[in-house]
Parts: sequence; C-alpha cells; structure tokens
Amino acid sequence: MKKLTESVYYTGVLNPGMRVFDVIMRTEYGTSYNSYVVKGAEKTAVIEAAHLQFATQFEDELHEALGDTVPDYLVLNHTEPDHSGCVARLTERYPQLILVVSPAAAIYIKKITNRADLNLQIVRDGDTLDLGGKTLRFINAPLLHWPDSMFTWLEEENILFSCDFLGCHFCEPAVYDHQITYYDKYWEAVQYYYACIFGPFAPYVQKGLEKTASLDIKMVCPSHGPVLTAASQIRPVMDYYREQSSPPQRSHKLIPLFYCTAYGNTKLIAEAVRRGILNVYPDADAEAYNIIEHDMAGLASIMNGSDAFLIGALTINREAAPPVWQLLSYIDAVNIPKRPVALFGSFGWSGEAFPHIAERLASVKCAVFERQFKLNFVPTGEDLEAAEAFGEQFARTL
Ligand code: FEO
Repeated sequence: MKKLTESVYYTGVLNPGMRVFDVIMRTEYGTSYNSYVVKGAEKTAVIEAAHLQFATQFEDELHEALGDTVPDYLVLNHTEPDHSGCVARLTERYPQLILVVSPAAAIYIKKITNRADLNLQIVRDGDTLDLGGKTLRFINAPLLHWPDSMFTWLEEENILFSCDFLGCHFCEPAVYDHQITYYDKYWEAVQYYYACIFGPFAPYVQKGLEKTASLDIKMVCPSHGPVLTAASQIRPVMDYYREQSSPPQRSHKLIPLFYCTAYGNTKLIAEAVRRGILNVYPDADAEAYNIIEHDMAGLASIMNGSDAFLIGALTINREAAPPVWQLLSYIDAVNIPKRPVALFGSFGWSGEAFPHIAERLASVKCAVFERQFKLNFVPTGEDLEAAEAFGEQFARTL
C-alpha cells in the first residue's frame, strides 16, 4: 500500500513475472494490477480490484489501507477479469459492498462472478457519488477499450482513474512516473500497449481525450503501470495518444506487402508485385515485409493503418503458414471493413493458403481483390512479369 494523497491510497499488486497477457500480448516487463482506495468523511470507495490469482495479496494491500474500515463501494471502471477476477471473493468478504458500474458492466460482472445477487449501482455519464467531501464523477469511455469502460474523476483532488487508458504493462516497485528507473523501457511499453489495446479504437481515443481536455488533471491513476503526474508523464503520454489516434496526414499511399517465404519464391513474387504497384503509384510507400523478420505488433500497426495491403503466403500442411495467421489475428476488425487486400504467392504441392486467407479477410469485410496471383514452385521470368502486371492491376483499383 502506498499513500498518494491524504485520502487516496494505492492498493495495487505487482506481477513482475508475467510474460504474456491475453494470450497475444508479450509483456516482457511484467505488469501491475492497480487498485486505489478513496476515503471520504462518510464513505470509502475502492476503485478497481485485481486478478483472481493475486486476490490474497490484493486483500492484504486493501487491509493495510482500510484497517478496520469496511469499504462501501467498489468502482469497476470496466470488467475485464484481470481487474475484476477477485470481485466475487471480495463480495464474500464484504457482503454489503456496492459495485458501481456502467450499464454494460452490470451485465458482464454478473457473468464474471456468476452471481445474480450482487449489490449493483449503475452509473451513467456525469453521475456523481458523494463520499463526504470527496466526489467521484463518472465519465463514459466506451471502447476504451471495452464496451463498458468508464473513467472516474475525483473532483476535489483532480485525479483521473482512467481504467486501462494511458496505462501500460510495466512493473517497477515505485508507483510514480518520476520514479521510473528504466524510462526507455517504460516508453516502449506505453507504445506497445497503445498499439495492441487502443490502436483499433482511434476515434474513441480522440473522444476520450476530448472528454478529459477540460479537466485540470494533476494525477492519472491507470489500471496498469505507473501513476502519472502533471509534472512528469501525463502530457507526454496524452500527446502520444493524440498523435497516434489522429487520422493519418500523408500525401502518398501506404500499400505494404506482407509475406512468408520458405525457399525465396514468394519473396521474388512480392518484389515483382511491388514493382507493379510502384509503376502505378511511384510515390507509394509499398514496403515488402518478410513477416518473420519483423516485430508482429509493428507490422500490425502498418497493416491496420494502410490504404490497402497484400498478403503473400505459402502453404504448409494444407494451410497458410502460422506467421501469416498471427499477423491476421491482429487485424483491426473495427476499422478494416472495405480495405482493399490482394493475395499472392508460390505454393508447393497445393495452395490451400489462398482460399483460407481470403475467407478470413472476407469475414472481417475486407475488399478482397477478385484475382489472386499464385503459382507452383519457382517463378519464371514470364511469371515475374505477370506478377508485376498483377501489382499494376491491383493498384489501379485503389
Ligand atoms: Fe487491464 Fe482491459 O483490463
């Protein structure tokens, strides 16, 4: 437990050993499950809980902050189990606890706890909760990053409890941003977290920033990572979110090619298709990326921010190679519909990768180019000319 102000306490727990979050995110710097206690003259609120695996440590932290005080409220800014996994257990310990949730969260938390008898207080945008000299105001923040997300604003102390917004998976013993030891690693974590968690929701990030723009924020208490302060990281992190969520202002088209190649044949085709694209759009950014040579999150960011993209796949065991599927698992399903996509590649015995990938892309409503460029084994000079023509054809549809 750490005291942040006279009435606000940090009661989070550290998980420095975590290396993967939500199956797909690497977390080489661990994480923290942040929780906070706000004490008013009459009532006490806990903001956020913790992962079920850390319930005992979390309860110890809470007890250190609360002493014999029984908390009145548990504010859940959203209901993902890394924060709400121990809620059922907490309500057994504090049966009178009122869960303060958004309307959508009221549905989810019943399913997470498998309890229908929870004491729920549903709050909407602008609603307030008076703790006695300390006022919590709730700010709708849908899709930042879940449908039920909200922020909680402590009016008298200018503290924003921001849910996952502005946070990151990063774990150091100190709580505050100005105490970070490995600052460059912290920023690496901020950027990766943004790309994975908020990248798909850029318009909502803009709305979230707008909603908080009028607040004179002195402290941001996110649900993961360091507490941010006005003198240190609040402004830089918010500026980064603003920059990343702004619609791209570019004068040229971004048409990346992503490929896997076993014996260099799909690579040769990628280079030829790329030439075709550049014949039509000489200024285009049409980089060809061998997927296994790049960071997947970085490629995903390029793919999701592109004007159009191409996938070059080989077939292994009657299926597209795993790195292709891994990249496609990062598709931003919110913003990808109607994005032009084309497929190319060389195959050995059979070429099942193509229909499987096309089906996946169609399922997220991409505009899949009706032609595919595929050939068996090694491309000839004529094949590469045809691949270049294929690139031109696709480019002319853009
Ligand atoms: Fe950290 Fe969206 O839960």
